[in-house]
Amino acid sequence: MNTNSTSAKDKQILIFSFYRDAELHGARLLFNLIGHLKDADSQLKLARHLADEVRHAWLWTKHIVELGGTPISLSDGYQRRLGARLGLPKGILELLALTVVVEERAQNRYMAHVAMPNTEPETKEVLKAVSEDESWHLAWIERKMREIAAQQGNEHRADEALARYREIEKEVYTSLAADEAELMRS
Ligand SMILES: [Fe+2]
Ligand SMILES: [Fe+2]
Repeated sequence: MNTNSTSAKDKQILIFSFYRDAELHGARLLFNLIGHLKDADSQLKLARHLADEVRHAWLWTKHIVELGGTPISLSDGYQRRLGARLGLPKGILELLALTVVVEERAQNRYMAHVAMPNTEPETKEVLKAVSEDESWHLAWIERKMREIAAQQGNEHRADEALARYREIEKEVYTSLAADEAELMRS
């Protein structure tokens, strides 16, 4: 490998900045949902969920600073690319479907990163801390999505929205992962 240690660190900071950016956009999505899902149960869960995502963004920020860097602001992060492909969600079901696919991606990505052999112990700690909450995030959002679809008289709409969002998300993530691999080689 011909990268010197400074540029290896810069690459790490860039990756963590991507994670931070995704967490912040996730928080924004939840903030949006808090204005839509008015029932008491959703209001409680959304407040806790939102607090988690903001904390995750902070944990990545803190990790970047501890590495001696500052967060990089990104103009073409994951959610921005995803938003460009999906367009604005048209209703509550689409907003929830978007939340599910980004949560699934975060969970998979963090699990893959923690399993990489060269992941530093300090980074593993952060990855584990931010992964801990993802199971309940996914579970309750997906349940709520099905509940709303059923109330609207068609439970299949939840599955249809999820299938469509998962397919597009996969394409967006594949292009992002390809750009990332290219960057890591440079
Ligand atoms: Fe998160
Ligand atoms: Fe989450």
